[in-house]
Amino acid sequence: MRTIALRVARYRPEDETEPTMQEYEVPLREDWAVLDGLNHIKDHLDGTLSYRWSCRMGICGSCGMTVNGEPKLTCGTFLTDYAPGPVTVEPLRNFPVVRDLVVDISDFMGKLPTVSPWIVDSEDAAPAEGEHLQTPEELDEYQQYSMCINCMLCYSACPVYGLDQDFLGPAAIALAQRYNLDSRDHGAHQRVDVLSAADGVWSCTFVGECTTACPKGVDPAGAIQRYKLTAATESVKSLLMPWGRRSDLPRPSGADQDNNAWSREVR
Ligand code: SF4
Ligand code: FES
Repeated sequence: MRTIALRVARYRPEDETEPTMQEYEVPLREDWAVLDGLNHIKDHLDGTLSYRWSCRMGICGSCGMTVNGEPKLTCGTFLTDYAPGPVTVEPLRNFPVVRDLVVDISDFMGKLPTVSPWIVDSEDAAPAEGEHLQTPEELDEYQQYSMCINCMLCYSACPVYGLDQDFLGPAAIALAQRYNLDSRDHGAHQRVDVLSAADGVWSCTFVGECTTACPKGVDPAGAIQRYKLTAATESVKSLLMPWGRRSDLPRPSGADQDNNAWSREVR
């Protein structure tokens, strides 16, 4: 049986102050992903190894790790692509390590709700009867952003987040745009302060590594650049128009009866 060496980062905080590398020999099978190799280690060689996974099909987003220096979903990364090996498996970069290959993503989980990643209903409009219908063109506007599985590969690849953890980060911004660009949403004004802050879109230097790393075809770098344009346009408008364009600023009577006018304009 052909085998391949997995060099796996180990960190057991109760015993060690620094991570160490441990090497295991696992079967090299055509249909085995790196995650299968880790599961082989866990089941047959060393039950103390800790890592996260769930779906094994690129849906849950929990199996992200650094494979030979690159952020990858280990369930979708095949061992044969790295033959003859060795394959180095480390935790995702830019996150604190809890144990072995498990990282702490509380920073992202804290930031995510600040961009209201849900459809915000209009306060004035009566609830629509029946379905909220959309045209295929309206769906196209946001669909790619809705593919995000919160796997954190983009944060691990982002050098700006690596240097400054206050940066809102690629997935949170892409998810904000997922809703800003949805024709059913009325919440763009709720997201503008967080997105337009210094730690929001303006921190991004457009390295583009987030988009390269994303396993789901989301383009966070594009979302960020698009929102920069929106924010800059709205900023100029607010300077030129004495009543401003933000929903939290006073408006002339009758100037804008539709609470969603601002959000429509930023699409
Ligand atoms: S944008 Fe892509 S890489 Fe980032 S969390 Fe979402 S799915 Fe993962
Ligand atoms: S195990 Fe769910 S995405 Fe890999």
